[in-house]
Amino acid sequence: MPALQNIFKVASNDKLSPRFHRLCIKSKPLIKDVKPGQFVHLRVRDGLEPFFRRPFSVYRNKKHLEVFYEPIGPGTELMSQLREGDDIDVLGPVGTPFSMPGKNIKQVVMIAGGIGIAPFLMLSDVLKRRNLDLVLLYGGRTMGHVYPMKEFKENGCKIFVATDDGSVGAKGRVSKLFSKINKDPKTTMLYTCGPNPMMAAVQAFAKKYHLKGEVACEEVMACALGACLGCSIRTTSGFKTVCYDGPVFDLDEVIFD
Ligand SMILES: Cc1cc2nc3c(=O)[nH]c(=O)nc-3n(C[C@H](O)[C@H](O)[C@H](O)COP(=O)(O)OP(=O)(O)OC[C@H]3O[C@@H](n4cnc5c(N)ncnc54)[C@H](O)[C@@H]3O)c2cc1C
Ligand code: FES
Repeated sequence: MPALQNIFKVASNDKLSPRFHRLCIKSKPLIKDVKPGQFVHLRVRDGLEPFFRRPFSVYRNKKHLEVFYEPIGPGTELMSQLREGDDIDVLGPVGTPFSMPGKNIKQVVMIAGGIGIAPFLMLSDVLKRRNLDLVLLYGGRTMGHVYPMKEFKENGCKIFVATDDGSVGAKGRVSKLFSKINKDPKTTMLYTCGPNPMMAAVQAFAKKYHLKGEVACEEVMACALGACLGCSIRTTSGFKTVCYDGPVFDLDEVIFD
């Protein structure tokens, strides 16, 4: 389905933890069509500042279209001020979704760093209907970067956490948790999203054990339509745009610098 641009109403906008917020948008057409891994390109308010839209993974598509975000700059700070009934300009759904694991797959491991967890709730919503061992490995900087993840638990995910300072879960990087991954390439599938060094570590691990996987990339974006080439990344088959060719790529395809 081609991306459509529409004005929708905000249903709610709540703080879920000291760092993270959830914006719910009343958008019937989008919740029907969006797939896990796709994103929406939001204009957070009218006017010139911020000039460009901002891309956000779709966190969930239940009653409303949900976006999980961390205020880190002007766009997301303005987003955090939106209230029920406010208008929001949405372009979407944009990008290539995750592919679904093949019939032989028994364990699906989602490996997320920080806000990189955003595309995985919807993926687990879809996969919980299958009889899979769903595992979430989550890395955050410190306690404030870890939130309850109730919905992941309700979807039957086994959750393992690592923080840089050890304030929650294991102490160190998320790679400390890679021991939870079954190293059988026939039955294990990996999905990852987060900072590039983390995704590079997942890629190296997958390569070592010949595991298949996919990566949801993030890049600063302007058009999100594949036109400006501003979000290009290096891949094994040349430069590709994150917005149009991605954001989901094969794990072994992306060249992390
Ligand atoms: C496909 C995609 C999905 C995304 N999903 C989410 C999501 O679900 N939740 C969420 O909170 N954020 C998500 N992001 C990131 C979000 O779009 C950016 O952080 C956005 O720029 C924030 O806007 P801002 O105006 O608040 O901050 P900005 O002023 O735009 O950015 C603040 C700082 O972060 C840097 N930055 C911005 N975007 C990126 C990026 N992609 N990678 C590395 N550094 C960056 C900027 O250079 C700047 O230094 C996603 C990005 C992409 C491309
Ligand atoms: S943001 Fe313009 S090509 Fe991707």
